[in-house]
Amino acid sequence: MIAPVIRVQGDRVTDASTTSAVANIGVVGLAVMGSNLARNLASREGNTVAVFNRSRSKTDELLAEHPEAEFVPAYSYEEFAASLAKPRTAIIMVKAGAGTDAVIQALTEVFEPGDIIVDGGNALFTDTIRREKAVRETGINFVGAGISGGEEGALNGPSIMPGGPEESWVTLGPILKSIAAVAEGEPCVTHIGTDGAGHFVKMVHNGIEYADMQLIAEAYDLIRRGTGKTPAEIADVFAEWNKGELESYLIEITAEVLRQDDAETGKPLVDVILDQAGAKGTGAWTVQTALSLGVPVSGIAEATFARSLSSHPEQREAASALPGPDEVFEVADADAFIEDVRQALFASKIVAYSQGFDEIRAGAAEYGWNIDLGAVSKIWRAGCIIRAQFLNRIADAYAETPELPLLMAAPYFADALTRGQAAWRRVVIAATQAGIPSPAFSSSLAYYDGIRAERLPAALVQGQRDFFGAHTYKRIDKPGTFHTLWSGDRTEIEAEDTH
Ligand SMILES: NC(=O)c1ccc[n+]([C@@H]2O[C@H](COP(=O)([O-])OP(=O)(O)OC[C@H]3O[C@@H](n4cnc5c(N)ncnc54)[C@H](OP(=O)(O)O)[C@@H]3O)[C@@H](O)[C@H]2O)c1
Repeated sequence: MIAPVIRVQGDRVTDASTTSAVANIGVVGLAVMGSNLARNLASREGNTVAVFNRSRSKTDELLAEHPEAEFVPAYSYEEFAASLAKPRTAIIMVKAGAGTDAVIQALTEVFEPGDIIVDGGNALFTDTIRREKAVRETGINFVGAGISGGEEGALNGPSIMPGGPEESWVTLGPILKSIAAVAEGEPCVTHIGTDGAGHFVKMVHNGIEYADMQLIAEAYDLIRRGTGKTPAEIADVFAEWNKGELESYLIEITAEVLRQDDAETGKPLVDVILDQAGAKGTGAWTVQTALSLGVPVSGIAEATFARSLSSHPEQREAASALPGPDEVFEVADADAFIEDVRQALFASKIVAYSQGFDEIRAGAAEYGWNIDLGAVSKIWRAGCIIRAQFLNRIADAYAETPELPLLMAAPYFADALTRGQAAWRRVVIAATQAGIPSPAFSSSLAYYDGIRAERLPAALVQGQRDFFGAHTYKRIDKPGTFHTLWSGDRTEIEAEDTH
């Protein structure tokens, strides 16, 4: 009798008694993200990577361009399944939506119970919840994993946010750890929670990214219009900021973009790029989900709306004759103004992240996920677009108080807001007086003032609701629910709580 071949691959021991089942991991979808992720996997010790793409040409191209990766190509789903050692593990990197459903369907037909299908695309978390439920019926494990960092991250080390069943993490964990970015010696991947938790957290990551980018853009605009500095000079300002508490990938690339001149015209590139920002939808998902959860992510919402506003040229044209303020905007002390803007940016950024983490907290409560918010901030420290030193402070805050009700109230952030609030107010006032749109700066400040207020005019809103709809109200001085007989003698009665 011939003994089965036992192959040791990374931390896994697999039965590879069938000669063709040589790969410990497979990738389906070999466009930009999939091909880079497959190359990343192949470059790590112990991995043999099976690859498959719907149209053959992408597979052949990848093989021809990267013979060093020693990929195991497959040209049908059957061949792909046969090339994988058990439990079969495949990462799907195809167009989100119908493409993902089609590939999942095809894989479930050739995979067996215990195998693992990972969707690494940008799926909406509710789709992931639905898919996980359907795939689970077949005995196959389904994992929705958010992967951030674009093509560069996929190749050299992304930040990975996997959801799905805990059992799948045993097999998948070592593989994902081997390809993830590393921050201070720790791989930027952790099991986020069950079913759609990974894609939920990736969605909020993207929402925070929208807010961060918009805040930086507003800072640039204010400095440029207030001080008359050129984009290249402002690039120096951002490069300097990148040495301090604002240190982050987005600040770093902002300096690069501002320093770039257009080869054709010789003008700063930022001046020849059409000022209409696109979006792929994850910002909108973050806001839509926050609205359903009742979480005020106003910074993310304003950033998403700012992109929409920019992308309506016909409306902008129609509004172009509307007047702005008469005075010319010119700051008296450029250095002092720039420092104010820096502080306003940091304060607003704290609000945006606090709101994003609030959404994750609320999502976890709604969907029954046990999400470690400190671990989430740690896996964003490298590989992803919002990577920054700042995330260490968030991890510290949750390490100190895991049940923190509001991130921005943690001591480090509260101190920063206390130090920055005067500058923040000066900047919002200056922008308002100058007629320079700063929706993310000003909405963050409004959130700060709202959430810290001892008393809000929400009391009046409750009075109005009771007046026109008998929606009732509660009192500050005694328990119970009340209604005033507005159309009667205006006496107050106890009532059923109708919210
Ligand atoms: N690009 C980024 O920076 C980035 C960052 C993070 C996450 N993502 C996500 O990663 C995923 C892949 O992105 P991408 O830019 O590499 O590719 P993509 O342009 O979103 O999708 C193209 C790939 O999907 C395949 N595909 C589409 N419909 C299919 C179907 N019905 N059956 C089988 N395959 C199908 C295509 O196969 P054919 O070659 O046969 O057409 C091709 O391999 C997406 O979900 C994307 O949102 C992208």
